[in-house]
Amino acid sequence: MKFHIFYLAIAALLATICAEEELQPEAARLLVSKHILNKYLVENMDIIVKYSVYNVGSVAALEVEITDNSFHPDHFTHVSGELNARIDRVAPFTNVSHTIVVRPKKFGYFNFTSAEVLYRRTEDAPRLQVAVSSAPGEGLIVSYRDYAKKFSSHVIDWAAFAVMTLPSLAIPFALWFSSKNKYEKLAKSSKKH
Ligand SMILES: *[C@@H]1O[C@H](CO)[C@@H](O)[C@H](O)[C@H]1NC(C)=O
Ligand SMILES: *[C@@H]1O[C@H](CO)[C@@H](O)[C@H](O)[C@H]1NC(C)=O
Repeated sequence: MKFHIFYLAIAALLATICAEEELQPEAARLLVSKHILNKYLVENMDIIVKYSVYNVGSVAALEVEITDNSFHPDHFTHVSGELNARIDRVAPFTNVSHTIVVRPKKFGYFNFTSAEVLYRRTEDAPRLQVAVSSAPGEGLIVSYRDYAKKFSSHVIDWAAFAVMTLPSLAIPFALWFSSKNKYEKLAKSSKKH
């Protein structure tokens, strides 16, 4: 009786292993993240968006295409990088990244949503795999005026800092300059002898 249960358990285990192998043949599997690299989001200023593609599958992903339709031309100016990027091949356990730059035309809250991803999981896959990237989520785009106000106060801080550090740079220079002169005079007078 106990033996029967043991064999049944082994058989069940083998069956699940086989089923799992059938479900997951040798294929590519991509994890795609979308990140906003800026610290501040400001109206009319560059926002850098980075897409990272990581292949956790066992074979290369082919014909990878990342399409981001979330930056509507009414709301964003496209500055650089393709909004529709193609990567021919992503090898297993390899990261590939793609970067774009956009500028928001308006300020206020904006929900940064995911990009769409298409790829071929194996060389002979009949259909393309559809996936989505992660979504950065909602962010606050501040108006240029508010940003400029905040930034100009930092410019004053910087100016004050520069003025305070000037003497500490000027003094060593003066010392160096006077000792250089003294040395040159000594060198000249010793040559005469
Ligand atoms: C690729 O990126 C993932 C996620 O960011 C990271 O965990 C992994 O270590 C990276 N692998 C390589 C080979 O750079
Ligand atoms: C942002 O958009 C996503 C996807 O459409 C949605 O699930 C989420 O609730 C939205 N977030 C906010 C704060 O509106």
